[in-house]
Amino acid sequence: MMQDLAEILFSAEEIAARVKELGNQINKDYEGKELIVVGVLKGSLMFMADLIREIKVPLRYDLIAVSSYGASTSSSGIVRIIKDIDVSIQNEHVLIIEDIVDTGLTLRYLITTLSSRQPASLKSCVLLDKPSRRKTEIAPDYSGFVIPDKFVVGYGLDYAQRYRQLPMIAALKPEVYSTEKNSGKEEN
Ligand code: PRP
Repeated sequence: MMQDLAEILFSAEEIAARVKELGNQINKDYEGKELIVVGVLKGSLMFMADLIREIKVPLRYDLIAVSSYGASTSSSGIVRIIKDIDVSIQNEHVLIIEDIVDTGLTLRYLITTLSSRQPASLKSCVLLDKPSRRKTEIAPDYSGFVIPDKFVVGYGLDYAQRYRQLPMIAALKPEVYSTEKNSGKEEN
């Protein structure tokens, strides 16, 4: 697995330090409030697990799964909920947790959909922000790292469902995703 990596962008230690900072910021911003944290499957799993352990205000968490729109229809921004959250978010402070915002279409869809349920507030926290790939104007409220347009894996991020278990975030060697035959989504 390690031989497929071109470079390590963020080590496990660097990620942990940044996650702690994000947690501290969230603790300040939500002081005296309660949160509902909504993690977006599957990529946000590790980030969410680490981040919520840095959050000191009371919270409940839930998970949502959305369909990938696929390369051919990526400009349409059509996203579908595969598994919805179980809790009502009406009048609640909601924080969406994502591993990466790329084109922004997924986050845009989630914000539109969850806003219609009338939360008291709705913000987003993403670990990685790749602004150069945006197809819709959207900026996360909290962002761990801004990254260049490289194919990144690890700490929950995958290529064809693999590499998620890596403790660091790394760029994949281009020959891995350009030559291998895989059925998974080829962009992240
Ligand atoms: C990734 C990521 C975001 C989305 C971001 O999910 O977790 O949900 O893509 O891309 P966008 O900004 O271009 O919409 P993916 O579909 O790869 O699923 P996964 O989380 O299960 O890996």
